[in-house]
Order: sequence, then structure tokens, then C-alpha cells
Amino acid sequence: MNDALALPVGTTLDRFIMRKQEDFPYATGELSQLLRDMALAAKIVSREISRVDQDTSGKFGKTNVQGEEQQKLDVIANIRFIRALRNGGEVCAIVSEEDEDIIHTGNQNAKYIVAMDPLDGSSNIDVNIPIGTIFGIYRRLSEGGQDGTLEDCLQKGTQQAAAGYILYGASTMLVYTTGRGVNGFTYEPSLGEFFLSHPDIKIPKNGKQYSCNEANMGHFPLGIQNYIAFCKEQKYSSRYIGSLVADFHRNLLKGGIYFYPGSSKNTAGKLRLLYECNPLAFIAEQAGGQATDGVERILDKQPSALHERCPLVIGSTEMIEKVRKYM
Ligand code: AHG
Ligand code: MN
Ligand code: MN
Ligand code: MN
Repeated sequence: MNDALALPVGTTLDRFIMRKQEDFPYATGELSQLLRDMALAAKIVSREISRVDQDTSGKFGKTNVQGEEQQKLDVIANIRFIRALRNGGEVCAIVSEEDEDIIHTGNQNAKYIVAMDPLDGSSNIDVNIPIGTIFGIYRRLSEGGQDGTLEDCLQKGTQQAAAGYILYGASTMLVYTTGRGVNGFTYEPSLGEFFLSHPDIKIPKNGKQYSCNEANMGHFPLGIQNYIAFCKEQKYSSRYIGSLVADFHRNLLKGGIYFYPGSSKNTAGKLRLLYECNPLAFIAEQAGGQATDGVERILDKQPSALHERCPLVIGSTEMIEKVRKYM
């Protein structure tokens, strides 16, 4: 059963969440409120991005735990999402790409954990190319009345209660799943509302475009190199803009495959399991696609560290199956 059935395009996100609340008898509204809190922060970050000026563009001047130079908007987005989740009261702990340790919100009786990439595609911030936010939501395993634990944060992707992304592009879109299909909402700034614009998203079983950084080709596993050669023989298009969320969203709607494989330079690749691979893998599967590390299903992987990286191959089922044959 998909969430979107029986709700017309143009339904607001609030009404959509409320309406779906009825379908979850066990739910007592916290997850719904948490989704609203994410949407609130998304509106604020969307506004910051749309008016990038000298106060919000350029380097922040620090390096994050990933060894990346933080951009000012990385930090601004991180602060906005943490503040919205802390004030919303539904989250006891947050894992963020931009913070080495678990962020404890002080909401010690809250039921949920959020793993997030507050700003994905940072290299594109100052050149007006689409960027995004990625998030995964987990139910805490530990008892209430205390801070969220490391074990709460290191759950498999199959344990996500919800996952989504925001794409700050020509329009700002929120796409999410709670395990009952994937639905997309487009933000109307003049009204301050997200409206259902892409109900029941399904990724085409096959596609004719592939996304990867071919500059690293020589370091890819041989199987991936052979698959890329196959794509060229089939005259597929190469589409890669350096923002995972934007490349993933295009492939989700049109069919295609994105991969950031491990390489001889870095066997685990670049992307982070908790807040990039897992949330998008949940969405891909809910939309009828797949996500692997080349062979193994992403959602089955047991995380052992907050910022661990893993190779990612994600998109149309038939393309993923083809890659598996080459590995
Ligand atoms: P982030 O900006 O959150 O660090 O993620 C960037 C990721 C992903 O969005 C993108 O597809 C990839 O890094 C680009 O990496 P390369 O520049 O190595 O291709
Ligand atoms: Mn980064
Ligand atoms: Mn990212
Ligand atoms: Mn990021």
C-alpha cells in the first residue's frame, strides 16, 4: 500500500503526514512531528542557499572529521537541522557528517535518532549547482530517560523508520519514505508550504544513463571498469554533477545508475554508510530499485563506526543486476 493513494497532487506535506497518521495505529505522532521538523529546517536552509552572499559562501576555515574543508553553508545547514531537531523534541541523538561525535539533544525521553548529511555536494555550493540534505531516522534501542547510545546510532539500514532527502535545485523538493512507498513534495516559497508533486515514485527498471567520476576509472575494480565499458558500448549517456542527491534524484525519476566504488586508492570509496548510503538505499528499494556495495545489499550492512565509508552502486534494478554479473 502506498502512502500517496487517495491523496491528490497538491496536498500539503502537513496534511499528507496527518492523513497517513491514521494508517499507523501504533504511531503516537512523534515520527510525524519529526518529519515536520525536518521540513521546517529544509525551508530555512533553502532560503539560506537561495540568497548566498559573502556571509554564507566560501570556506568556513575548518576541516571536518572527514578531512574535508568545511564550507560556510555546510556549517549553517548543520546548525539549522540540529536546532530544529533539538527544539522539536522528538530526537535524542544525531549523527552528522559535520560532527565527529554523537550530538546529544538533551531530549532524553525522545524515541528517535537521526543520521544526516546536512549539505551534500558541498563542492557545488558557490557555483549555483543543485545540492542537498540526506537523512535517515531510526527508533532508539536504549531505554528512555538517558542520552542516545552508540548502539542506537549503529543500526543496519533495514532498521530505518524513515529516510529522505531535500534537493535544493531549480525548485526545492523533499522526497521521503516511511516504508510505504516514496513520495515527493515541491516547496512553494511564496506560501511556505511543501505540496505533493510526485506521488508514488517508482524508478524505471532500466535506464540509459550512468553517473560516476570517470577520472578515478583506472582505480576502480576491474568489474566496474568492464561495466563502464559496457555502458559506452550501449551508447548510454554519462551524467555526473558531483552532488549525490541530484544525480540520485535524476536517476530515480528517469532510470539510471550512480556508483562511487571502492578503488585501489580507497577500498571503501568516499560515501558514508550511515547518512548517505543507507537513507538513499531505503528510498531506492521503496521505489523498486536497488542499492549495493557492488555485490552486497547496502541495507544489510552492519555499521561499526559513525563515519564509516562504503562503496555505493544505486539505481535501476536491471542495471544493478548487470553490475553484479561483472563483479
Ligand atoms: P559531501 O558534499 O556531503 O561531502 O558529499 C559529496 C559526495 C557526493 O555528493 C558526490 O557525488 C561526491 O561526493 C563527489 O565526489 P568526487 O568529487 O570525488 O567525484
Ligand atoms: Mn562533505
Ligand atoms: Mn554527501
Ligand atoms: Mn555533506
